[in-house]
Amino acid sequence: MPARRVPPRPLLLDAMDADAVATAADALRRGDLVVLPTETVYGLGADARNAEAVSRVFHAKQRPADNPLIVHVPDVAAVGEVVRLTPLARELAASWWPGPLTLVLDAHPGLPAVTTAGLRTAAVRVPDHPVALALLLAAGVPVAAPSANRSGRPSPTTAAHVLADLGSSVDVILDGGPCRVGVESTVVDARGQRPVVLRDGAVTREQLGARAVAPGADLAASPGTRHRHYAPACPVIVPPPGAAAAAAAGLAAEGRRVGLLASATAQIPRGVQDLGRFRDVEQLASMLYGALRAADARQLDACVVEAVADVGLGRAVMDRLRRAAAGSGRSAPAP
Ligand code: TXA
Ligand code: MG
Repeated sequence: MPARRVPPRPLLLDAMDADAVATAADALRRGDLVVLPTETVYGLGADARNAEAVSRVFHAKQRPADNPLIVHVPDVAAVGEVVRLTPLARELAASWWPGPLTLVLDAHPGLPAVTTAGLRTAAVRVPDHPVALALLLAAGVPVAAPSANRSGRPSPTTAAHVLADLGSSVDVILDGGPCRVGVESTVVDARGQRPVVLRDGAVTREQLGARAVAPGADLAASPGTRHRHYAPACPVIVPPPGAAAAAAAGLAAEGRRVGLLASATAQIPRGVQDLGRFRDVEQLASMLYGALRAADARQLDACVVEAVADVGLGRAVMDRLRRAAAGSGRSAPAP
């Protein structure tokens, strides 16, 4: 009897291939797990209304069950099956969608509890990536998609990062090349009169306007902030602007294997590995998670990343760096 042909898992699809999006859309509708590129980071997608599929997302990522997922839809017309829009949400959506802004709103009662982690709210966004939008349109189902990393690891910005973390625990990986932005979307509670920033991200507080307010002490509103995040295995050290090369040189002089991600004006000292150079904060954001992963792949003893000013996109970058440094047992400068 001929052996039954088992499709390779995960099925790796180049998003530019003719049938790739249609194949991935079919898989989503069947309840399979499909990794998709977005403008921020890669997402691990499942039909948001299929409780069994969404449970597999939590299992594949080893994600704590109390951390809800972002639901992705192709346009504002499709949010009705996920959340109830408020006037503020309509205003924000008109300004920022498609784009890296996630809105937290009252959840549609039909959404399974596993997607919302049992909360009465749900997070929703329209991603600004042609492949993601084509997939969402073709699938015709809302897609719950956390970042496609193993829980606690840096978010993936290439398909190779996803493969390294999740490998055969996903069904399909749709490879759309490197993500443009490199840090996650901004999460905003849009239920009230003013946007409340729950997680800094690619849309800055400055862009959201003076009306944006930071959350109070009630972190229950933003479950993801309770969990360890973004940390590579090797210690991350974040010296102030201008001081990173000297800090890296000092560690190398002690005989440690050290990597440096610094501004383009810094000199890489002898004995220090170059993890990348950035001209501005946008470029740093796009390189950051790849550099943290490279530090682990090269089994470095320390990864030194030059700090940037805590304004604009720098706020999101420094937030991730502080978490990475804390997760690896080192301290970054206070906010
Ligand atoms: O850019 C992004 O946002 C990427 C791409 C794939 O869209 N996704 C992403 O998902 O970063 P994830 O799961 O890694 O982060 C989602 C964040 C978490 O901090 C989670 O706690 C928060 O959104 N969140 C989700 N639903 C929420 C809700 N109902 N209330 C408050 N926060 C919520
Ligand atoms: Mg994540």
